[in-house]
Amino acid sequence: MALAIRVHEQPWTAERAALRDEALLGFAASPKSISPKFFYDSRGSQLFEQICRQPEYYLTRTEETILRLAAGDIAKIAGPDLSLVEFGSGASLKVRLLLEALRPARYLGVDISREFLAASTHRLAADYRWLDVHALCADFSQPLELPAEALGKRPLAFFPGSSIGNFDPEQARAFLRNLHAALPPGSGLLIGVDLVKDRQVLERAYNDKAGVTAQFNLNLLERIRHELDSDIDPGRFQHRAFYNEAESRIEMHLVSPHAQQVRIEDRLFDFAAGETLHTENSYKYTPAGFRQLAAEGGFAAVAMWRDPWQFFSVHFLRRE
Ligand code: AVI
Repeated sequence: MALAIRVHEQPWTAERAALRDEALLGFAASPKSISPKFFYDSRGSQLFEQICRQPEYYLTRTEETILRLAAGDIAKIAGPDLSLVEFGSGASLKVRLLLEALRPARYLGVDISREFLAASTHRLAADYRWLDVHALCADFSQPLELPAEALGKRPLAFFPGSSIGNFDPEQARAFLRNLHAALPPGSGLLIGVDLVKDRQVLERAYNDKAGVTAQFNLNLLERIRHELDSDIDPGRFQHRAFYNEAESRIEMHLVSPHAQQVRIEDRLFDFAAGETLHTENSYKYTPAGFRQLAAEGGFAAVAMWRDPWQFFSVHFLRRE
């Protein structure tokens, strides 16, 4: 197949306007917060790819090993003539572990980061010339309209990386319900989910020695400084990540070590010494807890694979 990939556009508020609106709201709130979806400008997406290669960040390599070992079983369950629809496709690396085993007819990458999406789907089309490659730039935390020509008759949604963990359980149910509405009955959903485990292992993964996660977190403030009219100085904030066991989630924050005032447009926001901007939650599930959540979103459990340490899980679910 030639390099003719089709980038489908979705009408949505310009990303900068969304960042502005959510920053103004989130900085005025108590506690201060902002959605982690704003991490992923092109710099943030690059930093995230670097996080995935850090020795402490076990999620990526563990999921990759599971996918490599399970690819044959996944292909048997999924069947022929598939359209593989990847959410948060990023660099489209994990899907490569499945392509030879699954031999899908079509691939649709869905991601919020436009440049990153275009570059990675072009590379995929160049490397797999037999594959009909599509790209959709969309915010998949919102209701979805998937282009019918990219969906075919037998879609298999692929949501790797435990990105579902960045939604709180209510948002995760809403995402699954949106996906349920966008897919025909019987469609598959292959989804990576990070598991509840020892606090030390979890906290190390979000506090890598090289400081890449810290840069990733602080890049959100760089975005606010560059894309909005703001005097915010990322150098005056610090990265903090810890496991909140009661909520079963890693929390990421940007701490203001000193009292300071920050301007966005004509609005001033006060940070007290030690006050934080909450930037991300990363929920960890038990297999049973996740199956329950999936069922509430209209997806039935078919199969699950884990690594020997039971750090990470990949679930095959069926849209009911
Ligand atoms: C994309 N997502 C699953 C990552 C996670 O582990 O929650 C994002 C991330 N945040 C810090 N490190 C990685």
